[in-house]
Amino acid sequence: MKSTTEFQKFKRDKRKIVMVTAYDYPGARYAEAAGADTILVGDSLGMVVLGYDSTVPVTVDDMVHHAKAVRRGAPGTCIVLDMPFGSYHASLEVTTRCAVDMLQRSGADALKVEGAGEVIDVIRRLTQVGIPVVAHLGLTPQSAAVLGGYVVQGKDFEAAQQILRDAQACEAAGACALVLECVPQQLAAHITAQLGIPTIGIGAGPATDGQVLVFHDLLGYGNHRVPKFVQQFAQVGEQVQGGLTAYAQAVRSGKFPGAVHSFNLSDSELGRLYG
Ligand code: KIV
Ligand code: NA
Repeated sequence: MKSTTEFQKFKRDKRKIVMVTAYDYPGARYAEAAGADTILVGDSLGMVVLGYDSTVPVTVDDMVHHAKAVRRGAPGTCIVLDMPFGSYHASLEVTTRCAVDMLQRSGADALKVEGAGEVIDVIRRLTQVGIPVVAHLGLTPQSAAVLGGYVVQGKDFEAAQQILRDAQACEAAGACALVLECVPQQLAAHITAQLGIPTIGIGAGPATDGQVLVFHDLLGYGNHRVPKFVQQFAQVGEQVQGGLTAYAQAVRSGKFPGAVHSFNLSDSELGRLYG
């Protein structure tokens, strides 16, 4: 899809929304060629690409830098960009300026923010400004430190009711879609049925209107911990490791570069060289 206005259409037509993260030009090219409906430039960037152990250190400039590369790699795909930790929690005015700046510099189509509470006002304001906003509830990694880590959310009735109420508030505030992360599948199904906007699940079972996974998780690329809810559709890391190891061996043994990788002087120029 080209823009977030198509999200609702997918839900109405009962077509699953395929979302995947990407962080650079080749990743975005592969995602677009695979027919992903939408690409998320997630702040999971911090963990899978930048090597931090949480999303907390990721900055606005980090996000914009990577989103620009993704935009160049996927010019025809709707791109959602995460607002990073702390960038939407000061005043609404500061948040609005930051959001406009992120959108203008990156070329992304929409922004994503985590949580409810005061974030509902953020969703409403940015939507009023004309920025499509994707909400994100359940396990919200930016607040993992206060949620008790990367654990399933909404497991008892009260917590589940709260997530449902938050989801409804996100929709009422104008969110164009809702990411539901790491919640019981029955809760995700119930919320999906209650909302007019599509839900995009990750660790939320099969009933959501779409699915999202982290590029590196689903492709088996990198050494980070892979959550239980991920299916690995390839083992790219093994290919990468094997290729690099073979390269190192070939250089050390003199097998690389070979004749086909080398350029030649003509015989006459060779003669002059050795004069
Ligand atoms: O940053 C990210 O990759 C995300 C998805 C896991 C939803 O927010
Ligand atoms: Na994120």
